[in-house]
Amino acid sequence: MKKNEEKSKYVAKTLAGLEEILAGELKDLGATEIKILTRAVEFQGNRDVLYRANYCCRCALRFLLPLASFQVHEQNDLYTRVVDLDWDLYLDPGKTLAVDAVINKSVFTNSHFVAQKTKDAIVDRFRRQWGVRPSVNLDDPDIRINVYLTGEECTVALDSSGASLHKRGYRKMTGLAPINEVLAAGMIRLSGWDGKMLLLDPMCGSGTILIEAALLARKIPAGFFREKFGFMKWKDFDPEQWHILKEKENDKIIQTCPELYGSDISPKAISDVRHNLAFTGLVDFVHLEVKPFDRTRMPAENGMIITNPPYDERLRLDDTIGFYKSIGDVLKKKYTSYEAWVISSDLKALKFIGLHPSKKITLFNGPLECRFVQFKLY
Ligand SMILES: C[S@@+](CC[C@H](N)C(=O)[O-])C[C@H]1O[C@@H](n2cnc3c(N)ncnc32)[C@H](O)[C@@H]1O
Repeated sequence: MKKNEEKSKYVAKTLAGLEEILAGELKDLGATEIKILTRAVEFQGNRDVLYRANYCCRCALRFLLPLASFQVHEQNDLYTRVVDLDWDLYLDPGKTLAVDAVINKSVFTNSHFVAQKTKDAIVDRFRRQWGVRPSVNLDDPDIRINVYLTGEECTVALDSSGASLHKRGYRKMTGLAPINEVLAAGMIRLSGWDGKMLLLDPMCGSGTILIEAALLARKIPAGFFREKFGFMKWKDFDPEQWHILKEKENDKIIQTCPELYGSDISPKAISDVRHNLAFTGLVDFVHLEVKPFDRTRMPAENGMIITNPPYDERLRLDDTIGFYKSIGDVLKKKYTSYEAWVISSDLKALKFIGLHPSKKITLFNGPLECRFVQFKLY
């Protein structure tokens, strides 16, 4: 492990379509040699940058520290290369580990098998050297290892984040189709919302878009409500450095927040948002009501709508085309001075909103390819 001032190469994982936004976040935190990859951003930074990135970046899923890259021509190559790595630098025999594997067109066809083989190589090395082996803990390991195998290229990395960073720690209650927090934060950034204008989500579900907007506007770090990060169990973890850095970031939090409005047809959804907001201390900043979209009114003359309606996937709709047509009618009649952004995987239904989109951005909500579409109503 390196001293704080020494730079390392890291890889930040993100969702497709958010790479540029994440690169911008990393630049602001002092990362250098930033390179945009597919669903990932590579960068250089010292330990301070790594801690800060984990705490502050809104659009990253995890930050990896690559340990070794090598070729895997046949299955046995993985074991022989992994067993050769100096695992003592990162792990003690009495500790626990977990291995995540991602494969893409390789000699292996099963990612669980790759994770298993990697784990076998690591524990065999410890057993041979120390007579004892680390054990597996999939939920809360001391170190989480990431194996990425694409074609014959294999990279083994340490995961500095632990649980995915979309798990911010504030969503205590959730509906049937909550949006990923990283995706919600990315949508807000992509919309160009300035953190000052009134923001409305008229199909707010458990309130992810509104909560991410409040965090962004008040400069509350994305990891503020999270208790654990993977690097806290690394051998080189410096609790004092972490504490000072968090204090510095927390000092940037501002008290002012623009007006945020949320509504939903479901009473359970609004009660969930209230619950989540109460936990975050943001409850005073968000106006909530149980109301179908067609019965809502503009809360003020100007504002922006960002919303994630049902796609007839996890949340079923009886008449999808009719539903999207009614979204368009309400926007046209009631929100004439607003800018609206709608995300949906139903590309055909989106057309029935019946408004000319001024921007269309491809994003993925889990496996579903979506369009995030802007309508300028003014
Ligand atoms: C995909 S979910 C939104 C999830 C939300 N973004 C979150 O993170 O929890 C769609 C929401 O639209 C709401 N909904 C469906 N029809 C509605 C209507 N006509 N008016 C208002 N809300 C509606 C559902 O109750 C549901 O909460």
